[in-house]
Amino acid sequence: MKVAIFASGTGSNFEVLADDDALKKAGMEIMNLVCDQPGAPVIEKARQRNVPVTVIRLSDYDDRQHYEAAIVALLAPLQLDYILLAGYMRVITPVLLHAYPQRIINIHPSLLPAFSGLRSIERAYAAQVAETGVTIHYIDEGVDSGPMIVQAKVPLLPGDSLAALEQRVHDTEHAIYPQVVAELIKNQNRRSNSINEKSVGQC
Ligand code: GRF
Repeated sequence: MKVAIFASGTGSNFEVLADDDALKKAGMEIMNLVCDQPGAPVIEKARQRNVPVTVIRLSDYDDRQHYEAAIVALLAPLQLDYILLAGYMRVITPVLLHAYPQRIINIHPSLLPAFSGLRSIERAYAAQVAETGVTIHYIDEGVDSGPMIVQAKVPLLPGDSLAALEQRVHDTEHAIYPQVVAELIKNQNRRSNSINEKSVGQC
């Protein structure tokens, strides 16, 4: 299964996916890292792992549509199965959505629809919720909306600092994103096996 990962920052989710041997064995190939922030730490993480990097800045294009059209053109030869967003700080427009329908997945550090948008963990902490969590979902044209794939709850424990909660949420992200990708691979293999069986049956 060929994927590109889109990220803008630290890249801890990129790292976890890229370093997951079980995913590699199952057939995940990270064909490209797309990053909109020159100098983001995730770029170095990709280079260290020999993942090709595309750094592309919105400010070099007239608008978001032209920017995404350029990304679509760059990625087309890679024949991607999925785009995995991992801390990519831009809203996706219909240009990319139409090129990869039901094929763009995002991870968000809250139990959506609660705390969508920015600084989700900080806002959940400030609200002293009993629990927050992580959501992995397909992308649509909204901000942090789109059909849900999985949610995992993370408790806010008595005496927790913000840093402790952040760490627990990120640890949860790192546990569940690879699991979701493993499921995608399984489903894709099932689909292609059933297509092969059908075509054998038609011989
Ligand atoms: C994660 O919390 C993810 O849920 C959110 O952005 C953050 C990216 O972290 N969308 P990292 O760059 O993967 O460390």
